[in-house]
Amino acid sequence: MVTEFIFLGLSNSQELQTFLFVFFLVFYVGIVFGNLLIVLTVASDSHLHSPMYFLLANLSLIDLCLSSVSAPKMIADFFSKCKVISFKGCLAQIFLLHFFGGSELVILIAMAFDRYVAICKPLRYTTIMSSNVCVGIVAAAWGTGFLHSVSQLAFAVNLPFCGPNEVDSFYCDLPRVIKLACTDTYRLDIMVIANSGVLTVCSFVLLIISYTVILVTIQHLPSQKSSKALSTLTAHITVVLLFFGPCIFTYAWPFPIKSLDKFLAVFYSVVTPLLNPIIYTLRNKDMKTAMKRLRKWNMNSRIKP
Ligand SMILES: *[C@@H]1O[C@H](CO)[C@@H](O)[C@H](O)[C@H]1NC(C)=O
Repeated sequence: MVTEFIFLGLSNSQELQTFLFVFFLVFYVGIVFGNLLIVLTVASDSHLHSPMYFLLANLSLIDLCLSSVSAPKMIADFFSKCKVISFKGCLAQIFLLHFFGGSELVILIAMAFDRYVAICKPLRYTTIMSSNVCVGIVAAAWGTGFLHSVSQLAFAVNLPFCGPNEVDSFYCDLPRVIKLACTDTYRLDIMVIANSGVLTVCSFVLLIISYTVILVTIQHLPSQKSSKALSTLTAHITVVLLFFGPCIFTYAWPFPIKSLDKFLAVFYSVVTPLLNPIIYTLRNKDMKTAMKRLRKWNMNSRIKP
């Protein structure tokens, strides 16, 4: 009976451990501060109370949660000889990872749809992206994440584990944990591909189609408008590619290349969650102005008793 799993981690070279520790610590601190800053800025500034920024704040919140599932444990584990996680902890990681991952997919699609309406149907933007629709999208995101995660975990909970418990990664994920079970896992592998794999591939295709439509549409805009839209779109597309590339490789690529996907997992655990604040915020004028206002207000309130 297996009661705990052991992570093999990203590398076992001692010098590299220190480097990776510092590297990931800096990344994670950046993720926490950057994403909290976005949520705070959007919440506190009424100029940013529009669908695009609400979705952005929700994305930041999800990014923060998503990377908190695996990154803190990975960082704390760098200096421990034996990186253990309890059986329940492992299931919790799988559940949360798919929960937040599934929600993030829906938010990314919603953000593409939001840009599509704003650019291709500008006159109907306020009617289509009403506040009810926004709340509905966010509810749908959490709902989808939950359903997806429960339907994935249902297969893992009752798996028989009888001995092998070394996970060649820094966190628990379904494809790796299934491999350790003492049973024929062929059907389970198919289930993972049918659920996570199809979900990621379909979302990816949908996103590529919507961004292509938007890109074709902006060709006809006056050049000043189109160059601004183009820079926003490039940022969105970068995030989409960096998030989905590794996901598709992990869940939908039928021929796993040994231990490559654990390095790719670094992308959706610490790289994209940090990129979002950078890409969506620092290149965005409204966001920067709002942050300046926030700082001013903060300083004024500190001066006054
Ligand atoms: C997420 O979106 C909803 C609906 O637009 C909004 O009311 C809420 O404030 C957003 N959440 C965050 C953390 O900004």
